[in-house]
Amino acid sequence: MNFTKSPIETMRGRQSVRTYDTQNLSESDIGKITAYINEEKNLIGPFGGKGRIDFVRVNKNVTDKGIKLGTYGFIKNPNAYLVGISANDKYSLVEYAYIFHQLILYATQLGIGTCWMGGTFNRNSFEKEIQLEEKQFIPCVSPLGYPKEKQRVFDKALRYVVKADNKKGWDRLFYDSTFKVPLAKEQAGPFKIPIEMVRLGPSASNKQPWRIILSEDRQACHLYIEQTPNYSGNLNYNMQLLDMGIAMCQFEIACRELKLAGKWQVADPNLEVLNEHTDYIASWKMT
Ligand SMILES: Cc1cc2nc3c(=O)[nH]c(=O)nc-3n(C[C@H](O)[C@H](O)[C@H](O)COP(=O)(O)O)c2cc1C
Repeated sequence: MNFTKSPIETMRGRQSVRTYDTQNLSESDIGKITAYINEEKNLIGPFGGKGRIDFVRVNKNVTDKGIKLGTYGFIKNPNAYLVGISANDKYSLVEYAYIFHQLILYATQLGIGTCWMGGTFNRNSFEKEIQLEEKQFIPCVSPLGYPKEKQRVFDKALRYVVKADNKKGWDRLFYDSTFKVPLAKEQAGPFKIPIEMVRLGPSASNKQPWRIILSEDRQACHLYIEQTPNYSGNLNYNMQLLDMGIAMCQFEIACRELKLAGKWQVADPNLEVLNEHTDYIASWKMT
């Protein structure tokens, strides 16, 4: 991905934006986003899966095809949408979110506001706009536009309700060798910043379901999900798996910037898990 700024700083500065300026996205920025999604290598996931993201312009929420895209009032003055398309299984969703989040970070560094949305959009209206193939669905979308400086009272209230500014501390997310010992920042060595980037990432309702065990030999970070019970209850897909792809993306981008060579593998170390809601996802292994 072409980052012109420090990706770590971009990750630190990113926030969900729900109110946009009425100013249109510049043709130059639209060109960059569309060029990005037309570049096949940008849409390949960590395990080789291929994602698809469509760019859809809107004017007063109506697309060029005349379809009105709805967000139940959550989003004001969007200029366009990124619409992600995936199959509905564990690793397709994880890979898809990793791919989608790279684009979110790319847009963020261009000064474009974004907001991951898995729930508060009218899926039917987006499905009318997009040509879905068999077994594909839209797990999430993101509005695009320049952030309006003054956010609505609604945005502030929503941030308060989901405690968007309260990210859990290291002691509740990260572990040393086993799930029995919390990981102290000072013990994380070169992984301190990549792990911190996982902590700062967006997650559905800010539930932060990611958990990491730093291996005893310090050569691997094992990523797990601790599902929030009943979270995706009335959806027909596991939305929290998207949070895991986001975590992998944040972690890997930080590693790349810090020149920490490694790669993602699915190689369950079969450690004792936290509880029945905890499931293994993948491991970052130093190379
Ligand atoms: C998978 C996923 C789904 C989300 N779905 C919605 C949504 O439907 N509506 C919404 O307003 N925000 C949604 N969000 C945004 C989160 O509420 C937000 O990321 C979280 O509160 C943390 O705030 P931050 O992004 O500003 O760090 C979603 C985020 C993720 C990662």
